[in-house]
Amino acid sequence: MILLTGGHGLLGPELRKLRDYFAPEEHEMDITDLPKVMEVVKASKPDVIFHAAAYTNVAAAEDNWKRCYEVNALGARNMVEAASECGAIFIYMSTDYVFDGDQEPGGTGYKPDDLPHPINWYSTTKLIGEVYTQGHPDHYIIRTSFKKSPWEHPKAVADMWTTGDYVDVVAPLIERAIGRIIDGLPLPGRIIHLGTPRKSILELARRRSPDIEAITRADVSVRLPVDTSLDFFTP
Ligand SMILES: NC(=O)c1ccc[n+]([C@@H]2O[C@H](COP(=O)([O-])OP(=O)(O)OC[C@H]3O[C@@H](n4cnc5c(N)ncnc54)[C@H](OP(=O)(O)O)[C@@H]3O)[C@@H](O)[C@H]2O)c1
Repeated sequence: MILLTGGHGLLGPELRKLRDYFAPEEHEMDITDLPKVMEVVKASKPDVIFHAAAYTNVAAAEDNWKRCYEVNALGARNMVEAASECGAIFIYMSTDYVFDGDQEPGGTGYKPDDLPHPINWYSTTKLIGEVYTQGHPDHYIIRTSFKKSPWEHPKAVADMWTTGDYVDVVAPLIERAIGRIIDGLPLPGRIIHLGTPRKSILELARRRSPDIEAITRADVSVRLPVDTSLDFFTP
């Protein structure tokens, strides 16, 4: 059985269409509450924990830094501890935002072993979650990016590039990677980059919503990385 945290956010329901998960909601298992996490995990005895719960509001995280740290860093630490306690494989949902995005255009994209260098608080706390994850002997870190479909804003950034895609495109890639982990099939390593070919954020938005207006990173209140495109594995 796979225990999925964050199973009721944007990604979780897409994953749950593809596989059965035990997916407690936040009110049933707040990941910042270690005794509760231990209670739920010990009772459910998962073989695998897929940890996707997070504080994901990148702009709000700059002011609400404490809650973001509690959920993303300490929540990951708690889930790792619970996975160690019950001997479960631990899979951590991370982000391409662990990179600073200052890569040379025309390259192959960030490789799993390239040095992370987050440029905002959300991404920093996600990287701390990765570090806790690496303390678990049987861990995997999945880095990717995904967007709600259809595009949820009237505007999209023209001067940012990504190998991310819509959540219904990325979820099946994650599902196949999970399948390979469970079946013991070869993987590029313990850090797995997933995605689809590089495009601008505006291009991605206009694929499904052609009338989306173009803005630039300068119009957004939080510092965003220019090009977090990944050298990705296709599972
Ligand atoms: N969206 C992206 O572009 C993107 C890109 C790369 C990586 N990621 C990562 O992918 C994962 C899923 O992202 P998402 O976009 O699906 O996020 P989301 O829509 O914001 O959903 C986050 C989920 O985490 C849960 N959660 C938050 N705080 C919690 C807590 N204290 N205890 C238990 N559950 C809690 C939320 O539950 P409630 O709704 O009940 O609060 C929600 O189900 C995250 O780890 C995120 O960092 C996202």
